[in-house]
Amino acid sequence: MKMKHIFREGKTESKNVLLLLHGTGGNEQDLLPIANMIDPEASVLSVRGNVSENGMPRFFKRLREGVFDEGDLIHRTKELDEFLDEAAEAYGFKRENVIAAGYSNGANIAGSLLFHIKNSLKGALLFHAMVPRRNVELPDLTDKQLFIGAGENDPICPPEETTELKKMFENAGATVEVFWEKYGHQLTEAEVKEARKWYDKTQ
Ligand code: MLT
Repeated sequence: MKMKHIFREGKTESKNVLLLLHGTGGNEQDLLPIANMIDPEASVLSVRGNVSENGMPRFFKRLREGVFDEGDLIHRTKELDEFLDEAAEAYGFKRENVIAAGYSNGANIAGSLLFHIKNSLKGALLFHAMVPRRNVELPDLTDKQLFIGAGENDPICPPEETTELKKMFENAGATVEVFWEKYGHQLTEAEVKEARKWYDKTQ
C-alpha cells in the first residue's frame, strides 16, 4: 500500500474506523491519544502524509503558508481515497464507516475528501481546518455530520475562514457543529472533549 500507516482493530461491536490525519511535520503516531479520547472502541487507521516539506510530512504540497498547490491537493486527495479502498479490503472494514479526525494540514485533506469525492467519509472531526478550495461545486453532503474545532485567535485559520467553511458544507447539505476555543492554532484538550460529546451524539 502506498501510504505509511498504522491500523489497529477495534472492538467488534464498534463498526467505526477513525482515520487519523496529522498536521504538518507530524506523523502517524501523533493523534493516537486523540482517537482513544474520542472512541476507544473504534478501529483506527492512522496515516502519514506522502509529501515532504523539508523533511516535514504533509498530505499535499503548498506554495507557501496558507496557499495550496491545487493540482497536488487534488492528486493527493484521490491518492488518499484510493488508499482507503485498499485498506478497507486489506483489513476487512467497511469503507462507509470511515470517520476522519484531522488536525491542521490533516484536517485540510479531510476537508478536501469531502469537497471532491462523494461518500468518501461517513463524517469528520476537523480541528483547525481551512477552506481547501474555492469555486467548486461540492458533492451532496446530506446526512453527513461534521465537527469543526476552531480558535478565535488562530492566525493560520482565521475565524472568518472557519465560518466560510461551515457555510460551504451546510450549503451542500451537511450538519456542522463548530466549537470555538479562545486560543490559536493549537489543538486543546477542551476541544477534544467537545469533539467526544459531538461524536457520542452523532456517530
Ligand atoms: C496547510 O498548509 O495545510 C495549513 O497551512 C496548515 C498547516 O500549517 O499545515
